[in-house]
Amino acid sequence: MVVIFYNELTTQSYLILKLCEKRNTMIRLAALFVISQIACQSLAQTPNIIRGPYLNSVTSSSAVIRWRTENPTDSKVSLHPEMNKVKGVSVTDSNLVTDHEVTVSGLKANTKYYYAVGTTKSKVLTFEEQYFTTAPTIGSTSPVRIWALGDFGDGSKNQLDCRDAIIQQTASHRPDAWLWLGDNAYNIGLDEEYQRNVFRIYQESFLRNTTLYPTPGNHDYGKAKRNPTDVSYFKIFTMPKEGEAGGIPSGSESYYSVDYGNVHLISLDSQGELDGGFRIYDTLSKQVTWLKKDLANNKLPWTIVYFHHPPYTKGSHDSDRENELVKIRENLLTILERHKVDLVLAGHSHVYERTHPLRGHYGAANTFDAKKHVVEKTDSPNNYRVGKSGQGVIYIVSGSGGQVGGQAEGYPLRAATYYNTTVGGSLIMDFNDNKLDAKWICADGQVRDQFSIIKE
Ligand SMILES: [Fe+2]
Repeated sequence: MVVIFYNELTTQSYLILKLCEKRNTMIRLAALFVISQIACQSLAQTPNIIRGPYLNSVTSSSAVIRWRTENPTDSKVSLHPEMNKVKGVSVTDSNLVTDHEVTVSGLKANTKYYYAVGTTKSKVLTFEEQYFTTAPTIGSTSPVRIWALGDFGDGSKNQLDCRDAIIQQTASHRPDAWLWLGDNAYNIGLDEEYQRNVFRIYQESFLRNTTLYPTPGNHDYGKAKRNPTDVSYFKIFTMPKEGEAGGIPSGSESYYSVDYGNVHLISLDSQGELDGGFRIYDTLSKQVTWLKKDLANNKLPWTIVYFHHPPYTKGSHDSDRENELVKIRENLLTILERHKVDLVLAGHSHVYERTHPLRGHYGAANTFDAKKHVVEKTDSPNNYRVGKSGQGVIYIVSGSGGQVGGQAEGYPLRAATYYNTTVGGSLIMDFNDNKLDAKWICADGQVRDQFSIIKE
């Protein structure tokens, strides 16, 4: 690991080393001692960071950088377009806090920035591993890799294996954006559970580099049940609710949209009773009214909608027997179909299930009729072509990123073209102009499901 100590340390050490270049061994050893003392002094002034840094609400021109310190300090973020350049742009905040949140703006799209966090008085450090990349210009057709992970934060071996499989399989192109499908921190979404089961596990491999767009699950609401006002999830993460990442401003951190390259992402809250007590299936609610407006406004060719509770599943949950799942299917799906959503991603059920491209299947699982409900034009069973005449919606449950297993009565789901309830995994989606390639990467590194969509 390369560490750059800023300003005084670098200059002082350099001068000492220069002066001692031609001296004897004893003098050189003494010089090294002095340098190590300077390093220790510098580190002593560096605040003790106990969480992060992590990235939220990254857009094509801005990013929110957050971290937590042991003691209250002011905040400073330095950005460096190149690793070996000491001079960069700094943003400071004089409020003394332990939970730091700094917005950096005026950035270039699709650009890598090294960054450092600290205080106005401390020497801030930057590492070659600490960087982020801004989102592509909205509408740009540059390739985009999106990772969706569900029901993961339980500290299990499966969680670690799923993480490691993604690290390995994406070595040449790490995910550009990371979607969480809810139940992010077991068991009840407490701050310390996020620390233990999320930050401890993903900090170095993803959280400090990867743009995160999360959604909450029932376990994240925990004891608050459906009331979002005292839920750690909403305190820990910053969502782009003002339309700063594209889309219509939602005015709520519960639901929001993001334009990432040529992909429109919509995160919905299927657990909360919002804006006066409404759920995701209440179609006249503020959330769904915003959703309809946002979908109607979207001009990008690809649309992914994600929320925690699945409309179709026969895994550890049953979309025939659980009222909220039934109501989502009966009330919400017509809106998604009408606006030609490509993929709907969910978790909650600790399995993997991918449906055919569907339209009009709102009844129980046994009412599924391929002739009536499947809209597909295929080259082979897993290669779809979508023309102007219309398309179905592919629904994917990817809820085995930590928790895994379960089969409901009537398993397997009749509308599914692939399902797996025994192995954990998560979904990588590569968007390249008019083509999507999706792969379900399992905990053991194997790809057990893959499909592609080409838009003609
Ligand atoms: Fe859940």
